[in-house]
Amino acid sequence: MADPSLLPHPARHQAMLARYGFGLFPVPRYQDAAVGSWRVARYGRGPVEGYLPGAVLEPERHVLHHGRTAWMSTSLMELESHAFHVHQAVGVVVVAGLGMAMYAHAAVQRPEVLRVVVVEQAKEVIAVARAAAGMDRWPRGDKVRIVQGDALGSRLADLVLDATGGRRPDYLYADIWAELAAPQAPDDTARMVLALQPKAAGWWGQELSFGRWCQEHGQPAEPATLQAYAQETGVPIPVSAGYAAFCRDVAAARLPRRPAAGQPSGWRRLWARLRGAGSG
Ligand SMILES: C[S@@+](CC[C@H](N)C(=O)[O-])C[C@H]1O[C@@H](n2cnc3c(N)ncnc32)[C@H](O)[C@@H]1O
Repeated sequence: MADPSLLPHPARHQAMLARYGFGLFPVPRYQDAAVGSWRVARYGRGPVEGYLPGAVLEPERHVLHHGRTAWMSTSLMELESHAFHVHQAVGVVVVAGLGMAMYAHAAVQRPEVLRVVVVEQAKEVIAVARAAAGMDRWPRGDKVRIVQGDALGSRLADLVLDATGGRRPDYLYADIWAELAAPQAPDDTARMVLALQPKAAGWWGQELSFGRWCQEHGQPAEPATLQAYAQETGVPIPVSAGYAAFCRDVAAARLPRRPAAGQPSGWRRLWARLRGAGSG
């Protein structure tokens, strides 16, 4: 059973549970660690934005750096953007990208998860995450298998099936990018889906990728459009009313608004007002 003191932001957790049917998850007690050019470092108290609307004052956060690039952190934005995918973890879970092992830690704490197979390409990340997240002391850490390899490589299926004991994955979570909702994320994930044939799958920032797709297609973020998006991308995204509502809220908080058809953009309206022409 996970230590309840490891559950961050209890008020946001409760609000998410009530609105979407899933909430936050326990996070390991991190410590600083460095291996090669990768390091996990602690940062002190500060206000941070969520993935959902609103900000909180965080007592501290840890960040994974590779050289000067920040790859991952325990900030509220990361917690909320991992939350749905943690909630999907059941049976055999495959994770592309170990990072700080935050997702792997949350997944193994779930009683409905039997095994978590993580594919990570950087040997130093495996060492730094093991030390920083205290992986050797996790309750139910025996469920984790880490394989070193390229999640986009031709040997992915062999690597993973060996570690799952030949079982088809129940959920694939792909998070191998430093950028949130990276443009290549849907295609990269679809490639992993083709290799592994998981029953369901998702990627980091999927909600924003879907939100942009809705904007481009002039569609609302609803279960039916999410289904159409899943078909178009080739990723078996689990669809529910609660998740569609989550996607809507994330998009409203984080995507720039597009003017309605025939309406001038915000800048043009401002320019027209400054010129004294008004915009009506
Ligand atoms: C943002 S981190 C993942 C964070 C993770 N979700 C967590 O909860 O801590 C991305 C990770 O993907 C790894 N990575 C990048 N490209 C990869 C690839 N092609 N195959 C496997 N791992 C990859 C990076 O080394 C890094 O550890």
